Amino acid sequence: MTTSSSERGVSLGMPELPAPAYPDDVRARLETDAREIIARYPDSRSALLPLLHLVQAEEGHVTRTGMRFCADVLELTTAEVTAVATFYTMYRRKPSGDYQVGVCTNTLCAVMGGDAIFTELQEHLGVGNGETTDDGKVTLEHIECNAACDFAPVVMVNWEFFDNQTPATAKRLVDDLRAGRPVEPTRGAPLCTFKETARILAGFPDERPGAVEASGGAGPASLVGLRLARGETAPARVVHPREGASQDRDSAPQDRGAHEPSPSEHLSSHDAPQDTSASDPAHPAGPAAEEGE
Ligand code: FES
Repeated sequence: MTTSSSERGVSLGMPELPAPAYPDDVRARLETDAREIIARYPDSRSALLPLLHLVQAEEGHVTRTGMRFCADVLELTTAEVTAVATFYTMYRRKPSGDYQVGVCTNTLCAVMGGDAIFTELQEHLGVGNGETTDDGKVTLEHIECNAACDFAPVVMVNWEFFDNQTPATAKRLVDDLRAGRPVEPTRGAPLCTFKETARILAGFPDERPGAVEASGGAGPASLVGLRLARGETAPARVVHPREGASQDRDSAPQDRGAHEPSPSEHLSSHDAPQDTSASDPAHPAGPAAEEGE
C-alpha cells in the first residue's frame, strides 16, 4: 500500500526557499526602494535584475533572504528568482570582498598578458579564482571580455576599468586597495565599494560630486577606427604603454594612453587611412555607424 504525497506532508508545488525574512525596518526601507524601481517598468517582473542589485547592495551578495524578498515584491516564485540570480555572474552568491578584482582572461587580454596577471595575482594574494583575501578586502576572479579589448589587458575593480595593466601594476593596485590607499580608475567614475556600486547598478543616482561627469565616453583607442573611417588625415595614434617606455613600464595607467603624432612620426600602413567602400563609386555610402552607435 502506498501513501499519497499529501499524506506524507509533501508538497508537489514549487518548494519554498527556506530563508529568513529581513528585519522589519530593513524590509520597509527596501520596499520603498523596490517600489521606485518597479514603477519604471510596464511589467513588474522586468524589475528583477535591478532588484537583485538592490538586495546585493544591502548585504554584499545575493542571499536567500534577498531572493525571497525579490520574489515577494514581484509575485514570482523563489525558483524563478533563483534561476535568474544564478545565471548572471554579476550577482555574488557568497560573502565576498569590498573590492571585486576581475582580470580579463578572454582571448585578447589573455595573449596581451591577462593570463600572466591572473597567475601572479593568485600567488601574490594567496587566493584562487572566486576567493577572498583574509582581510575581506579583495575578491579575485577571472572575467570574460568586458568590451575593452583595445585597452588590453584589462582589470576591473567593482566594474571600473584599469586599462593596459601589467603584473606589477596589478599587484600594486591590489596592495593599494588592501591598504586603503586611494586608487583611480583609468577612465570613468571614481572607485567605490562593491555595495555602493551595486546600488548604482540598481538604478539609483550616483550622488558623488563629479562622478556622473567623469563617466565620459569612449577612449581614444576605441575611436581610432572610427576616425580612420571618416578619412581623417591625422588620426590619434594610440601608443601601447610598453612601447619605448621600459623605465615607465610600471607607471600609473592614467599616465599612459593616446598622444597625437608629431610631424616626424611616421604612420605605418596600418595607421594610414585606407580606401574603403565609402570611396568606391559603386558603393558611395559612407560609414554605416556614427560615433556612439
Ligand atoms: S578580451 Fe579583455 S576586454 Fe575584451
